[in-house]
Amino acid sequence: DQGRLILTREEVAKHKTPKDRIWVTYKEGVYDITEFVEMHPGGLSKIMLAAGGSVEPFWSLYQQHRKPEVLQILEPYRIGTLEGGAAAAATASAAVADPYASDPARHPAFIARSERPYNGETPGTLLAASPITPNEIFFVRNHLPVPHVDATSYKLTVEGEGTRSLELSLDELKSRFRKHTVTATIQCSGNRRNEMSRVKAVKGLAWDQGAIGTAVWGGVRLRDVLKAAGLSEDDPLVRHIQFEGYDKDPASGEIYGASIPLHKALSLHDDVLLAYEMNGEPLSADHGAPLRVIVPGVTGARSVKWLRRIIPSASESSSHWQQRDYKAFSPNVDWDNVEWTSAPALQEPPVTSAICEPAPGTPVSVSDGEITLRGYAWSGGGRGIIRVDVSTDGGATWTAAKLLPPPPGAPPPGSSYTGAWAWTLWEATLPLPKPSDDGNLPSTLQLVCKAVDSSYNNQPDAIAPIWNLRGIVNNAWHRISLPLEP
Ligand code: HEM
Ligand code: MTE
Repeated sequence: DQGRLILTREEVAKHKTPKDRIWVTYKEGVYDITEFVEMHPGGLSKIMLAAGGSVEPFWSLYQQHRKPEVLQILEPYRIGTLEGGAAAAATASAAVADPYASDPARHPAFIARSERPYNGETPGTLLAASPITPNEIFFVRNHLPVPHVDATSYKLTVEGEGTRSLELSLDELKSRFRKHTVTATIQCSGNRRNEMSRVKAVKGLAWDQGAIGTAVWGGVRLRDVLKAAGLSEDDPLVRHIQFEGYDKDPASGEIYGASIPLHKALSLHDDVLLAYEMNGEPLSADHGAPLRVIVPGVTGARSVKWLRRIIPSASESSSHWQQRDYKAFSPNVDWDNVEWTSAPALQEPPVTSAICEPAPGTPVSVSDGEITLRGYAWSGGGRGIIRVDVSTDGGATWTAAKLLPPPPGAPPPGSSYTGAWAWTLWEATLPLPKPSDDGNLPSTLQLVCKAVDSSYNNQPDAIAPIWNLRGIVNNAWHRISLPLEP
């Protein structure tokens, strides 16, 4: 019995390196997790914080661990029991102060995918209702507690290669630089992960199609601020612009960070913004107040909220989220053999689309004669949507959907145009199947949509060939099934 060996906390504390073996405790159990640490979905640096001690204070910060799967992973590594058993364990896992206590309130319409950190998505039927997503129901993707940054004492620092250091208050930023607005869609790399995990389990938040939204962002151009700091376009030492947020991991002190390539940051046409407004209102606490980056056409992870520092550099951001998270691998690569350095950090995501209305499972009556579908389509890199095809028979036959007018400030759909940063909403009314001569009718309606972008990129039909361990960039045909009633 692996639990029989009785161990003291002092003995456990001696095991904190691979050489001495890595031990942790959970409740009264002692576990040797040396073989697991490299496979940990939250990264090596995080799990090592618990080496030689209890995982519990960390799990009260990262509540993703509060599920049976995590304990199933842990159980085979059990080597013993803490001296004093459950009583000793209870004293050790003394409550830690709740770093999420001052997080803002959220709109009840959100579908919460995790509470701490908070992650909430917009229900599909609300998404398709308007080309601009209302601020209060715009999806929220936080990795850490929300930092409260006072707009009046706020400071943005620019410092790094090829620039003189610059410190700017919010007022200075607004008065020294021209205001620009950009209508852009922000999508999380994990949007539609839920469908991918039905093929095979993946690690991450179980988003449906609502980790996406579109807003008119107002602010100043990153390009203008970099120029003011003296950055020259052909400085051979600068290849990337790194961003750091004010949000900080309460356990490890790690700061949220990301980077984008220099050419994206400096392009006159790409409108990378330091935004202080969202749909005409000051940014809210959840969306990055008082200042965030908006990188149009690029995956949401690079649009750093609560912006603290801009760092021109020869290298990418070294943060966990740039180096060991938003990357996709071949379907046969799993947590035991992933080599994070072998894939580039995701920037421009591929073309995708989703049916938002009706919701999956809504019963349909054949006697209605027809059905109306609504949804969105979007592609990375400013590639516009030129067509959306929909099907009611699982993809055997197709009809082109009607592309709806763009949100204010965005170019019309259908044009082969880069600079199309916003999604295209679409609509299609299709006839319902009629019973055959012998009265037979399919029991379900298999709805499908797929989009084509201005580079004629198409979506793949199946998820399995694009499955990846982190469950990102699922852009397969979106399929939903509805019960069909006579
Ligand atoms: C995520 C297991 C210890 C920090 C995860 C996930 C698993 C896991 C299965 C994926 C959860 C999901 O998203 O569905 C474990 C086990 C541990 C351990 C078995 C102990 C033996 C720790 C410790 C920390 C930590 C000590 C922090 C100090 C994280 C973070 C994530 C995570 C931050 C989320 C990554 C993300 O979604 O971006 N862990 N973990 N873990 N873990 Fe752990
Ligand atoms: N910036 C900071 N500082 N901290 C974060 O956790 N999350 C990123 C990005 N910027 C994040 C961040 C991710 S993964 C996404 S998808 C977008 O913010 C989401 O922006 P939203 O919450 O305003 O919708």
